Amino acid sequence: MEMSHRSDEFVSIATQAEQDLRDLLNIPSNYKVLFLQGGASQQFAQIPLNLLPEGGSADYIDTGIWSQKAIEEASRYGHVNVAATAKPYDYFAIPGQNEWNLSKDAAYVHYAPNETIGGLEFQWIPEVGDVPLVADMSSDILSRPVDISRFGMIYAGAQKNIGPSGIVVNIIREDLLGKARALCPTMLDYKVAADNGSMYNTPPTLAWYLSGLVFQWLKEQGGVDAIARLNDVKQRTLYDFIDASGLYSNPINKSDRSWMNVPFRLADDRLDKPFLVGAEARGLLNLKGHRSVGGMRASIYNAVDITAVNALVAYMAEFEKEHG
Ligand SMILES: Cc1ncc(COP(=O)(O)O)c(C=O)c1O
Repeated sequence: MEMSHRSDEFVSIATQAEQDLRDLLNIPSNYKVLFLQGGASQQFAQIPLNLLPEGGSADYIDTGIWSQKAIEEASRYGHVNVAATAKPYDYFAIPGQNEWNLSKDAAYVHYAPNETIGGLEFQWIPEVGDVPLVADMSSDILSRPVDISRFGMIYAGAQKNIGPSGIVVNIIREDLLGKARALCPTMLDYKVAADNGSMYNTPPTLAWYLSGLVFQWLKEQGGVDAIARLNDVKQRTLYDFIDASGLYSNPINKSDRSWMNVPFRLADDRLDKPFLVGAEARGLLNLKGHRSVGGMRASIYNAVDITAVNALVAYMAEFEKEHG
């Protein structure tokens, strides 16, 4: 923690972390990898400050709370065209691309491939022609392979599949650098970050180091293909159980269900409390749904292995027998 970020030791930690991430995601050489600060929420402002020219317009897809926060923030900097929204589906399904209203002159198209709170995940990559596609992958990066070349920029707050909070990873195509508005703070200019190896100022060195350890761990697991196979088994185990049960339900359209965040409800919400108390007694923690939606949510990120999912399902079955 006391290591200078300019020391050879830390520079080698930082370089190795970037290389491991490049290997894991097959990041093409014309993309920069940035390790930034301010969380994914700061990106909601940083994206328009860098990519939305004065007087320009950007397309946003609304599939839930995080997309909406991005929309709200970007609207402060220019015109936002909400090209599609899941609202008519009560945020239980993603509108197909035939329902989208993309504009030809958009500076970029922004979407959140995985809505962490709602539990809605794209199983496909939008087709947006030459317009740069910008994706908030905070809660699904590294959960399965992704073709980086389809994107102008991907960003992800670290605290799900990467490492501790305090760092954000940006993977940005080089031609999108150097477009920041005059008023964009130096610290928020992607080009400044890229030109300085993400060290324009002191970076969060400990979070960067720990993220690097996670990348090494993931390589030892066999990389993203291997973790994707495990994630697939995890999500199928949980959804299959929920769908077959009479007590639990998940409202999301089957082809739009998140592999990482599985929200579910009990048939009678008076059972929520005893369910959580029993879960906690078994070491099954953090199952309470987000305060904005209630119910339950099992977040089964890369670090949660199949034994934990099996333990949850066993407990859910036992609880259903008692209370169903
Ligand atoms: C999809 C998504 N976007 C953005 C955020 C906000 O991230 P941060 O807290 O790093 O600003 C989160 C946090 O949970 C998220 O899941």
